[in-house]
Amino acid sequence: MIATLLAVFLLVVPLHSQYDSATVEYYAQLITDLYENGQTYQQPTNAYEYYSHIERQKYGNYDFVVIGAGAGGSVAASRLSEIATWNVLVLEAGGYGDNATDVPNLYTPIEFTHYNWAYNSTPQKTCCLGAQNQICLYPRGKGVGGSTLINGLVYARGYKSDFDKWEKFANDKRWGYDSVLHYFKKSENFVHNDKEAPCDPSYHGTGGYLRVEYHQPNSPQLNAFLEANKELGFDIADYNANKLGASQTQINTINGKRLDDAKAFLHPVRQRKNLKILTHSYVTKILTDKGVATAVEFSHKGKNYFVEVNKEVILAAGTIGTPQILMWSGIGPKRHLNNLKIDVVADLEVGTVLRDNTLFYGITIHTNYTEPVRPLRDYVEDYLKGVGPFTIANNLAGVGFYESSYTKGTGTPDIELVFIPANATNSLSAKRVGLTEETYEDLWKNVDVPQSLVVYVVSLHDVSTGTVRLKSKNPYDYPMIDSNFLSDRGNKDIKIIYEGIQLVLKLLKTKAFRKMNATLQGRPLRACRNNEYLSEGYWYCAIRQVSSNLYHPLGTCPMGTDIKKGAVVDSKLKVFGFRNLRIADASVFPSPLAGHPNAPTVMVGEQLGDLVKLTYNKN
Ligand SMILES: Cc1cc2nc3c(=O)[nH]c(=O)nc-3n(C[C@H](O)[C@H](O)[C@H](O)COP(=O)(O)OP(=O)(O)OC[C@H]3O[C@@H](n4cnc5c(N)ncnc54)[C@H](O)[C@@H]3O)c2cc1C
Ligand SMILES: *[C@@H]1O[C@H](CO)[C@@H](O)[C@H](O)[C@H]1NC(C)=O
Ligand SMILES: *[C@@H]1O[C@H](CO)[C@@H](O)[C@H](O)[C@H]1NC(C)=O
Ligand SMILES: *[C@@H]1O[C@H](CO)[C@@H](O)[C@H](O)[C@H]1NC(C)=O
Ligand SMILES: *[C@@H]1O[C@H](CO)[C@@H](O)[C@H](O)[C@H]1NC(C)=O
Repeated sequence: MIATLLAVFLLVVPLHSQYDSATVEYYAQLITDLYENGQTYQQPTNAYEYYSHIERQKYGNYDFVVIGAGAGGSVAASRLSEIATWNVLVLEAGGYGDNATDVPNLYTPIEFTHYNWAYNSTPQKTCCLGAQNQICLYPRGKGVGGSTLINGLVYARGYKSDFDKWEKFANDKRWGYDSVLHYFKKSENFVHNDKEAPCDPSYHGTGGYLRVEYHQPNSPQLNAFLEANKELGFDIADYNANKLGASQTQINTINGKRLDDAKAFLHPVRQRKNLKILTHSYVTKILTDKGVATAVEFSHKGKNYFVEVNKEVILAAGTIGTPQILMWSGIGPKRHLNNLKIDVVADLEVGTVLRDNTLFYGITIHTNYTEPVRPLRDYVEDYLKGVGPFTIANNLAGVGFYESSYTKGTGTPDIELVFIPANATNSLSAKRVGLTEETYEDLWKNVDVPQSLVVYVVSLHDVSTGTVRLKSKNPYDYPMIDSNFLSDRGNKDIKIIYEGIQLVLKLLKTKAFRKMNATLQGRPLRACRNNEYLSEGYWYCAIRQVSSNLYHPLGTCPMGTDIKKGAVVDSKLKVFGFRNLRIADASVFPSPLAGHPNAPTVMVGEQLGDLVKLTYNKN
């Protein structure tokens, strides 16, 4: 009885106390300020804020040092610190998330804050041509939670065939589908809060740290998207259960608030006496001695330190940060390190491959359905209740996974559509992708935002790869990122996007969309005026203009068996040639996945925990 009363009290009271007008006012101001400051915010172009000339001091001595508190690092640190006799230090360059990172729909303006490293690519020849200086932007999260502080929150693991391939690269069953499925379920707390949305419970876990739920409520446009898919013969299916088809998006929120991976995996265990999270700590080097990592150098609040390592260094600084730190430490391609006058410790193909998913964002569709426009304070009240437009990042409400002509009949998707029912752009969108004025005018300037839906077309298994290299030996310089996507000789990547566009045009012709009088919007891109509007040539041109990486960089330290074939870590996540240096982040993926990388990175973090426990007989 008392327990019931207490439960009711706990459920009801916080909800009501959230409605006071001061709180609503506070959030309305927070949101307004973030958009306003975003207009003038200057992104950093290097990491000199961390520079210190003060001679280094010893910070202490830990069993495990985890570098980076992003997706992989949060999970790794959480699992390692389960062993009470191990002490674990986490070094993270940024600080903690806050009320702004918690609001999923601040997805765009949050990029114009200190939570974003904000890297740029080098000028491109095959992609991002409609952007200023032909540069693709590489947002990366900085802070406890890493990129999951600023990401789109889409939970999508990838398909069975992806992990079958991974198993082959690793030559280890640990990375095959049965094994990774166990880890996906272990991490997950699936809440089936939208009974209309498809869910195959045998593929989901409910006891884990990482909550997965559906955004609420569904919009009429999203329902039209699902209907349209059915009309074309596609299933409405749980895409995390290895099935093709369309669905409401499964997202990492908790009652509509962002659940970044640190909030999921680290905050619940922060009290552990053997776990220390040191924020504002920028790692510049891993010290090694004959294949043993001995210490980690970092700067922290104007001072330089080194921390000694008793057992292992777990590198989890992400797809860009991890190869940088390795190369600063002399672990990388010999010829590149020689050019920069960095002493070579190990000759490995670090950063030689950079993968991503290509995203085409050039389709806007006008309908005669208008998304209601309400005062900001109404949206805030909804947010505090856990529903409505502010509880979803960029309104990424629906997804579909489809075979391409290359994978027809195999059950492996090659094309993803991401469905944005309305409000796909806002005052910071052009800045977000760095569009030129001309591209912006052609693409978005005259779009009626609440009356338009957008379908992103994504290529899932890109053949093209780029590189991550150092600009200099100076660890405060940003890296050189060459995206190089849509550059494969066979033009497979661009053809997949083109097929995806044709699929969208087919969806538009369904009854479901005709009922909304759905028509293509925007005017022909001037950059593509030599091609007849909507012809195949036009689309190929448009794809190179208004495509971007999908913020899914991965694979810069790939798992494999042979360093001569470019492998950097083995199937136990160990860097080749080192006894106690492992990587636990998205840089180890050996090949692209038909999913979004957060879920598989969490899986890598889980595996890291078990692998290390196994090594020391603690499992
Ligand atoms: C805008 C955006 C949208 C995205 N949308 C989605 C999505 O919807 N779904 C999805 O699954 N994925 C999405 N992603 C990708 C996903 O968030 C990442 O793939 C995932 O977080 C990668 O995890 P990680 O551990 O490899 O790196 P991260 O999460 O980036 O963590 C790396 C951490 O290391 C820290 N670090 C780096 N260098 C140093 C250093 N020298 N010293 C100390 N600390 C350092 C960083 O500050 C960071 O906290 C998105 C990413 C972005 C940027
Ligand atoms: C965050 O918002 C809550 C209300 O939801 C408020 O109590 C708290 O003070 C805010 N935090 C900061 C740092 O402003
Ligand atoms: C949708 O866009 C309209 C027009 O730009 C804007 O007034 C409205 O606030 C937006 N809605 C949300 C939830 O951001
Ligand atoms: C939208 O357009 C369709 C088809 O042209 C029409 O039947 C329908 O009545 C229109 N709806 C509204 C709200 O205007
Ligand atoms: C449908 O949309 C087109 C283009 O936006 C417009 O010209 C036409 O009048 C609309 N038809 C109806 C029935 O709303």
